[in-house]
Amino acid sequence: MALAFPEKFIWGAATAAHQVEGGNVSSDFWALEHAQPSFFHEPSGDACDQYHRFADDIAILAGLGLKAYRFSIEWARIEPEEGAFSQAAIDHYQRCIDHCRARGVSAVLTFQHFTLPLWQARKGGFTDPAFADRFARYCDHAAQRLSGFDIACTLNELNLPVVYAGILERHAGDARFAARLAAAERALGGSIAGNFFGAPPAALLDQGLKAHAMGRDAIKAHHPHIPVGLTLALQDEQAEPGAEHLRDQRREEFYGPFLDACAKDDFIGVQTYTRVVVRRDGSFGPEPGYPLTVMGYEDRPQALAETCRYVWQRTKTPIIVTENGWSGEDDARRGAFIREALTDLHKAMAEGVDVRGYFYWSLLDNYEWLLGYEPRFGLVGVDRTTQARSIKPSAVMLGGIAQANALSVEP
Ligand code: BGC
Repeated sequence: MALAFPEKFIWGAATAAHQVEGGNVSSDFWALEHAQPSFFHEPSGDACDQYHRFADDIAILAGLGLKAYRFSIEWARIEPEEGAFSQAAIDHYQRCIDHCRARGVSAVLTFQHFTLPLWQARKGGFTDPAFADRFARYCDHAAQRLSGFDIACTLNELNLPVVYAGILERHAGDARFAARLAAAERALGGSIAGNFFGAPPAALLDQGLKAHAMGRDAIKAHHPHIPVGLTLALQDEQAEPGAEHLRDQRREEFYGPFLDACAKDDFIGVQTYTRVVVRRDGSFGPEPGYPLTVMGYEDRPQALAETCRYVWQRTKTPIIVTENGWSGEDDARRGAFIREALTDLHKAMAEGVDVRGYFYWSLLDNYEWLLGYEPRFGLVGVDRTTQARSIKPSAVMLGGIAQANALSVEP
């Protein structure tokens, strides 16, 4: 039996500039990674050297049968100093888009994926009252010069610091927090609130949402027919009996205002990795005994269909799954995770949830931010010494589903 997907369903894989390109030296994350001591397990360094190897990576993606590549353009490269734009960086990203087109792959551009130019972080990042204006100016500059891309995402997971409040504290562990914070602020040359992971929720709701709206309009002014949306970090929030009101409060705080703000957009980018169970005593987390991934997340592929149902019910806005993935060494489990997620997604779509595409995170084993290179999400492995790529069986499997536009399942 085959579960067929709609004719124009988009099958792809995703990456982000800082996690794969290497040498993103003008960004705030680069500075934080090199602080002593650092919140980061290790620096990003050469990452996957995709800045030079993009043609090979796009060829691998196309060869697998995937139809779309979601990648980000890097503000810190395009505008490394305030108001000083690099034409060479624009030319680079145009070449990436052109390579996609030449291989029949749709290019899905994210304009900001966590990193900021260091100068913007020094001005306070999202807390800077001029943040939205500056982001819109960058979007205008890039969108005016780039052509041939098919879909655009403005900001990646704008709500993430709200969902993972205290993200840096959690990774710093106890007594070392103060020393790491002091070193981070020295390296940044300003408050940690200037970095996305340290951004206060109020700033994301104010300047962040304004930046999304102004960035979207700037992109649309040059590309009126291209769908533009915001991507959000969405966990499947489930309540144990009697804790429904607590679950609803969390949804309201983490997702509500962000979803409402983009309910009129062309699409919402859903990015789901796991489920969280909310308990009557107010605690939350994985269900005790449930299998976990190396990220410490519940290994629960069904979470994706649930977040899509929730987003659709609340917004009635078309959805693109811009990220969903599994980290770990067991590639057979990764393949099974993808199949289970897609089986449930298909069911949600049959119920009427309007999902237009699925992007696996990630095309490559890459730099997982604070955790460094240890967690491996990739469909394609990357040798950390030679940069050699190795295609995993899960990649071939997902490519096969994309080519068939259907998932074969046991009847
Ligand atoms: C982010 C990615 C990250 C992935 C896995 C998402 O929150 O957009 O950059 O690598 O999750 O943790």
